[in-house]
Amino acid sequence: MKRFIETSGRHRKIEGWPLVFTILVTLSILVGGIVEFLPLVLVKSNIPRIETVKPWTPLELAGRDIYIREGCNNCHSQMVRPFRQEIERYGEYVKPGETIYERPFLWGSKRTGPDLYRVGGKYPNLWHVRHFDDPRSTSPKSIMPRYTWFQKQDLNFDGIGRKMQTLQTLGVPYSDEEIASAADNAKRQAAAIAQDVVASGGPANLEGKEIVAIVAYLQRLGTDIKGSSASTAAAGISDVPSGTN
Ligand code: HEC
Repeated sequence: MKRFIETSGRHRKIEGWPLVFTILVTLSILVGGIVEFLPLVLVKSNIPRIETVKPWTPLELAGRDIYIREGCNNCHSQMVRPFRQEIERYGEYVKPGETIYERPFLWGSKRTGPDLYRVGGKYPNLWHVRHFDDPRSTSPKSIMPRYTWFQKQDLNFDGIGRKMQTLQTLGVPYSDEEIASAADNAKRQAAAIAQDVVASGGPANLEGKEIVAIVAYLQRLGTDIKGSSASTAAAGISDVPSGTN
C-alpha cells in the first residue's frame, strides 16, 4: 500500500510538469507506433500476392480514369465484404491481394448503386453501352444518371502511356515496351470491343470513343482470380461470419 502511494506520488509529480509529461507521452506513443508500423513496411510477405492478378491493360487503365473522373465511386463501392448476404448478392468477397495495383483505391463507402467489384463478365458489352446511354433502358427504375457523352467523346489514346509511366514509378510492373506500345495495344482492345458491340446489334464506330474504355474496365473488374486458388468455391460461404450491410 505504501509503495503504491509512493509511485502514484511520483506520477503526480511528473503530471505536474506539462512539458516533461508531454515529451514522455510522445516518446511512448512513438515507440509503440514504430513497433507496430515497421513490420508492415519491412516484411515483404505482408503483402499477399495472387499469381493471376495482373495490372490493368492500357485501355482498361484509361477506363478506370474515366470512372474516377465521373465520380462513379460516389454511388458505387468496389468492396464486396466477407458477409453471407454480400457474397450471395455480388459474388466472391474482395481479397487484399486483388487490389495491390490500385492507385488510388476505389473501395468506396457509398452504395447508392450496387457494388461493382464483381461486375466483370456479368453483362455483355452491349448491355453496358445501352446502360450508360440510358440506365432506364436496361434497369427500368434506375436512378443512375445518363452518360451519353461516353459514345461521343474521343478517347485520348496517346495519353495512356504517360499514365502507365506514372504507375510504373509507383511500383506497378509495366515494362518499358508495354508503355511504348500502350496506344496501339489500347486501339486493338478497343477495336475488339467495338466489333463485338456491332455484332450484337449495337451502334457502330465506337472504337475511338470513351465508351469502349469504361466498358473494358468494367468487364475486367474482379475477374483476375477466376479459377485461381484464391477463389474459394461456393462452399466457402458457410465459413464467413454474417454481419450487417
Ligand atoms: C447517382 C448514383 C449513381 C452514379 C453517379 C452512378 N451510378 Fe451506376 N448505378 C446506380 C444505381 C442506382 C444502379 C442500379 C440500377 C441500374 O442498373 O441502373 C447502378 C448500376 C450500375 C451498373 C450495373 C451493376 C449491376 O451489377 O447490375 C454499372 C455497371 C454501373 N452502375 C456503373 C456506373 C459507372 C461506371 C458510373 C460512372 C460513370 C456510375 N455507375 C455512376 C447509381 C449510380
